[in-house]
Amino acid sequence: MQAIVLVGGEGTRLRPLTYGTPKPMVPIMNVPFLERTLVRIQDAGITHAILPAGYLPEAISSYFGDGSRLGMRLTYVIEETPLGTAGAIKNVEQYIDGPFFVFNGDVLTGLDLRGMMQFHAAKGGVGSLHLITVEDPSSFGAVVHDADGRISAFVEKPQGPPPSHDVNAGTYLLEPAVLAAIPGGRNVSIERETFPELIARGEKLYAYVTDDYWIDLGRPEHYLDAHRHLFEGAIPLELPLGRDLIAGPGSAQPPGTLVAPVFIGEGVTVEEGACVGPYVVLGNGCRIASGARVVDSLLWEDVYVGPDARIEWAIVASRAQIGAGAYVRPKSVIGHDVMILDGSQLPEGSRVVAEGVTTG
Ligand code: GTP
Repeated sequence: MQAIVLVGGEGTRLRPLTYGTPKPMVPIMNVPFLERTLVRIQDAGITHAILPAGYLPEAISSYFGDGSRLGMRLTYVIEETPLGTAGAIKNVEQYIDGPFFVFNGDVLTGLDLRGMMQFHAAKGGVGSLHLITVEDPSSFGAVVHDADGRISAFVEKPQGPPPSHDVNAGTYLLEPAVLAAIPGGRNVSIERETFPELIARGEKLYAYVTDDYWIDLGRPEHYLDAHRHLFEGAIPLELPLGRDLIAGPGSAQPPGTLVAPVFIGEGVTVEEGACVGPYVVLGNGCRIASGARVVDSLLWEDVYVGPDARIEWAIVASRAQIGAGAYVRPKSVIGHDVMILDGSQLPEGSRVVAEGVTTG
């Protein structure tokens, strides 16, 4: 069995983080998000993953190589122009030899893949779609199905009274027959074109509704939320996570104050008089100077936070420098290599790239 992990999107909603790092390489507890997906796939006994890519693909292939470190085979297929979520699947048709999984590359979930395989085999449709139930489906793709799970309609971003609270959670188990329904050589959306067309043809698609943890990391606030959820044990990772956690690979207890939970990379310095936490992840090589305060935030690698600076509920990409006494307010996202000048006051929701500051 093969798994296709869609990793070709530009991740526009995560900008400026995705200017320097493709979305699948965005770290979760200091490990690229895609690694966590691949480990789940491997754990389910699937050893060949196909990665349709296109945006900053070298950042992915240079990190994972041929996949042998994870005990799997990885095949990269680079799109010259984006082919969309179904076009990308059609484009790797030659590697598929039976039922196959498709993963949106930006979903973090505890879904049990083996359970989904059993469901799919028992139902016998051309596809099974993982759905989760949400209170407000207006920003998702709502999926209408009967009590047996048979899907009858897809409604993108329903406005008004929703036809269903079960939404597409971005993991599919499909039969090769689905490939025949996707036109080749152009951009095709699986959500908007292929699935509705299969339904119109009378093909059987089934809803696999679970209450597993699920979050789409496509927006900065969701990416931050995911870390809080992981600290609180939403998905068992190989890490000893928990509310009392003060840990990290090989990091000594720094002299500064750490307020649990905090997760620290290698070679991190928190100077005496600095305070980090709760709910903070510091990437490898970060340095937090005396008097600085970092709360509810994700700092990638080699970030420097100057004396008496403050960072609250924000994301700071690699090698950024936050000047002395600067204040980075909630919901701000600081791009790679940005230098925030001493004393700067960033308003809530700032988006900062190296050339300047934009808010919104
Ligand atoms: P935004 O620009 O913020 O909407 O993000 P995105 O386009 O990266 O992600 P979106 O949620 O629209 O897509 C869902 C998944 O499909 C993500 O894992 C994307 O990487 C992937 N994806 C989207 N478009 C393409 C494409 O044209 N080709 C490939 N190979 N993957 C795609």
